[in-house]
Amino acid sequence: MIFSVLLLCAGLVSGVSAACSRNLLEEATAAYLRAQIAGQPSILLFTNNVTYVENDAPMDIKSGVLSQPVVVDFNRSLYDTTDCVTYTEVVAATNSHPYVISTRLTLVGEKVTKIESVVSDDGDWIFDAAKWLSWTKQEKWDPIPEADQDSRAVIKAAGDAYLDNWGNFSVPVPYGTPCARLEGGIYTGDKNASANTCRMGEFPEKFTVTNRRYVIDEVVGGLGMFNDFPFLDKAKPKGTPSTNLFRVEKGMIRYINENTVCTERMCGR
Ligand SMILES: *[C@@H]1O[C@H](CO)[C@@H](O)[C@H](O)[C@H]1NC(C)=O
Ligand SMILES: *[C@@H]1O[C@H](CO)[C@@H](O)[C@H](O)[C@H]1NC(C)=O
Ligand SMILES: *[C@@H]1O[C@H](CO)[C@@H](O)[C@H](O)[C@H]1NC(C)=O
Ligand SMILES: *[C@@H]1O[C@H](CO)[C@@H](O)[C@H](O)[C@H]1NC(C)=O
Repeated sequence: MIFSVLLLCAGLVSGVSAACSRNLLEEATAAYLRAQIAGQPSILLFTNNVTYVENDAPMDIKSGVLSQPVVVDFNRSLYDTTDCVTYTEVVAATNSHPYVISTRLTLVGEKVTKIESVVSDDGDWIFDAAKWLSWTKQEKWDPIPEADQDSRAVIKAAGDAYLDNWGNFSVPVPYGTPCARLEGGIYTGDKNASANTCRMGEFPEKFTVTNRRYVIDEVVGGLGMFNDFPFLDKAKPKGTPSTNLFRVEKGMIRYINENTVCTERMCGR
């Protein structure tokens, strides 16, 4: 008994018994990108009863964006080997219909069982795919040396604090210096790249950001968080589909890329 517990611990430390290998998740993500470029979901290996959800609405994969060929100008992915999930930011700025797509894949064994995407386009929150593309390309997401990598708990806590602060302005948020936020086509770091420009002003009302779904990748200090953002969209008081992609370095937030959809143009604001 003690022996097997020791073995299990050793496995966890070395990553051997991680739920999913990084390689498997990388392959699934590469297949997802090929599927999106071709507009052929079947390129992605998924179960017969795969759940396909776009902007919080379950739908037939055949009527989703994954069934349209899309020109992919840029992609960035996180691989969560503990929870067997991935996060991919897809920027399609030169596509005839520009998009920014955030996708979370859930795997069981070698197959994808769930595909969730937040798909933004013209009229969504400050949407500008060309500007998003130019800013996201400038961000540095190099692998973090192993000795400097944060734990999953630290990475998750940084992103949670950012969203919790919207409901309680006293919650401290570990913003780094520099820190920059990409929000649709706006980049807070455009004037001074070495400053912390992520700090949010206090919202006129307090609200709780719910339905948080996480993808955590210690190698790049990455946290992809799907969530429902209340207050912003007048037609969706309980929250509009949104994703925040965080890069965390030594416990401090370096980048936030926010992709948010709106029911009506600019969420009616
Ligand atoms: C996705 O991003 C990786 C890393 O930057 C790059 O090597 C690859 O070519 C990209 N794939 C597509 C389909 O654009
Ligand atoms: C549907 O998918 C789940 C995993 O998400 C699996 O456990 C279940 O057996 C599947 N059901 C069928 C009918 O294939
Ligand atoms: C707000 O956050 C502060 C700091 O974390 C905490 O002490 C306080 O209890 C919170 N207030 C509410 C109403 O949750
Ligand atoms: C930019 O930000 C850094 C760090 O906060 C600060 O030291 C510097 O003075 C700022 N530069 C300008 C031009 O404001």
